[in-house]
Amino acid sequence: MTAFLFVTDLDNTLVGDDTALAELNQQLSQHRQDYGTKIVYATGRSLFLYRKLTTEKSLLQPDALITSVGTELYFNPTEDTFDPEWAQIVSQGWDREQVIATASHFADLILQEDSEQRPFKVSYHLTEQAAVEVLPQLKSALQERQLNVKLVYSTGFDLDILPLKADKGLAVQFLRQKWGIEVKQTVVCGDSGNDIALFSVGEERGIIVGNASSELWQWYQANQTDYRYLAEAHCAGGILEGLHHFGFLSD
Ligand code: GLC
Ligand code: MG
Repeated sequence: MTAFLFVTDLDNTLVGDDTALAELNQQLSQHRQDYGTKIVYATGRSLFLYRKLTTEKSLLQPDALITSVGTELYFNPTEDTFDPEWAQIVSQGWDREQVIATASHFADLILQEDSEQRPFKVSYHLTEQAAVEVLPQLKSALQERQLNVKLVYSTGFDLDILPLKADKGLAVQFLRQKWGIEVKQTVVCGDSGNDIALFSVGEERGIIVGNASSELWQWYQANQTDYRYLAEAHCAGGILEGLHHFGFLSD
């Protein structure tokens, strides 16, 4: 066994089955101790909502924490300030005020709670029904104003608008390069739309948990390769299944 970089989404991926989570935690923390494996969480949650989750569930202390859909990076989640180097990269070409002004013309976009509005992320709720029309219209309105941004739609309800230089996958790539870890020794896990970037940034080993939401499931069906694995088991159980499939954990 050798060290690897373990990256996982939290809601409905790492978290969702407490029994499997306890088993996975035990195996990962042993692996970190024995081989120096690194554990990274890549979540849509803000640091505020991440901390809330840590009071509700038993989570290992990560070696790095990617929050707010890849727009912020923390090497120490007990500190309040995000990594300035990553912030500098994602801030390029980002005009938050103009993004909000453009989106405000769409009545179907309902702003999410304040804690989820971040320096490099603006987030709304949008029903799946309305999304069919609103997403292409919003996209062209943003393009008309030369706002080069990313629209990320997850679980048929959450819409995030992000800088072009930010998403979960790009944040993982930044970390991988910083730590000098090869793509083949990196595994990423997710369940929904904002995780597609984790699976598509490069040839990282990908685990899609069995309970994946429809947008990720459809993406997986159209983009199958031997370095992406669709698990049968849900949440942490699916992660354990995938880690064995790729040989990161021994049978
Ligand atoms: C998390 C965040 C929310 C985001 C969603 C999807 O729930 O709190 O702001 O829209 O993930 O990325
Ligand atoms: Mg999730």
